[in-house]
Amino acid sequence: MSGVTIRAVTKRYGDNAPVLTGIDLAIQDREFMVLVGPSGCGKSTLLRMIAGLEEITSGTISIGDRVVNDVPPKDRDIAMVFQSYALYPHMSVRENLEFGMKLRKTPRAEMDRLVAEAARILGIEEYLARRPKELSGGQRQRVALGRAIVRKPAVFLFDEPLSNLDAKLRVQMRAEIKKLQHRLQVTSVYVTHDQVEAMTMGHRIAIMHQGKLQQVGTPLEVYERPSNLFVANFIGTPPMNFVRATVGDGGTSLQARGFVLPAPAACREALAARAGKIVVAGIRPENVVDASRSTRGATAPLELVADLVETLGDEVVVHGRQGEDEIAFKMDPHNPPELGARVPVQLEIDRLHLFDAETEQRIND
Ligand SMILES: Nc1ncnc2c1ncn2[C@@H]1O[C@H](COP(=O)(O)OP(=O)(O)OP(=O)(O)O)[C@@H](O)[C@H]1O
Ligand SMILES: [Mg+2]
Repeated sequence: MSGVTIRAVTKRYGDNAPVLTGIDLAIQDREFMVLVGPSGCGKSTLLRMIAGLEEITSGTISIGDRVVNDVPPKDRDIAMVFQSYALYPHMSVRENLEFGMKLRKTPRAEMDRLVAEAARILGIEEYLARRPKELSGGQRQRVALGRAIVRKPAVFLFDEPLSNLDAKLRVQMRAEIKKLQHRLQVTSVYVTHDQVEAMTMGHRIAIMHQGKLQQVGTPLEVYERPSNLFVANFIGTPPMNFVRATVGDGGTSLQARGFVLPAPAACREALAARAGKIVVAGIRPENVVDASRSTRGATAPLELVADLVETLGDEVVVHGRQGEDEIAFKMDPHNPPELGARVPVQLEIDRLHLFDAETEQRIND
């Protein structure tokens, strides 16, 4: 059993301010965990600490039952795949796959069997005699994956392995890695800054920002119930709309700059305690519904002025304006509004996400 347990981990480079603080994360055996967050938030640092490539300033990291803080990388039973592939250019694909096994003195027959198996799984059998420079980016990335597979590690670690690939290949490879992980049933930690990659690949995703874990959950949990403004804004495309509003008397209304909304029934109690205070109300574009579509739950009517219309094919994203507030929503592509037209919409009030304007933490359940 090889979960990865991260307890109260902090990382500081030299005398600089810490780049990671108070990281607690329990990755289950066979789980596919994605670490996601903007550039510089500390994803690679955390992954490299799991790998043993970076010292842990404080706290512990365990693989299975064993604390590995002082275990050298080669004894951690992990395999890591990087963005840069890190293949040896002067060696053939076969030699690249065999390299680590030769160091570990794996018997020839076993080596041949593992290479054949990995090459078959990844569809690179025809390229075993080629050098890396004779391969496309996607084929090179498969070789890098192959090198990880032949190790039969307890844990796979991936650091943005797809970011050198073009958009189409990236989508294809992300499906392949997901299937591969399902087939091999190896605990995996996957780093990306791409929230779509995170949502589509992870059993659970851990969202990081400025060296801190913001939220850990299944893709749907973090989408439907983001625990703070950062997560709400980071997950979802087009992003959630945000409107600042003052809580009305008794917590029954939300007074935005140019309009008033009824508060969701479920959070009136929580809001009553905040009467007169500012909150941030978030609503996803799919919960702003033009008059021609059906709605769910309680709704509030609003009229938006179409500022920008983006055609995506299956739908258009309309950026509507109401006073100083911008609200994006989706419409039928065959019936887009004229720029400047007034579009009546219904806001699905029960789908509002409410955040404290100061602490940026979620208010409603
Ligand atoms: N060797 C180092 N010495 C000092 N600071 C470092 C070192 N490596 C990383 N950092 C700093 O630590 C922070 C986290 O870096 P890290 O590489 O973990 O970010 P990241 O989330 O992987 O970002 P990206 O998406 O750009 O790869 C950054 O502020 C970075 O400048
Ligand atoms: Mg990184």
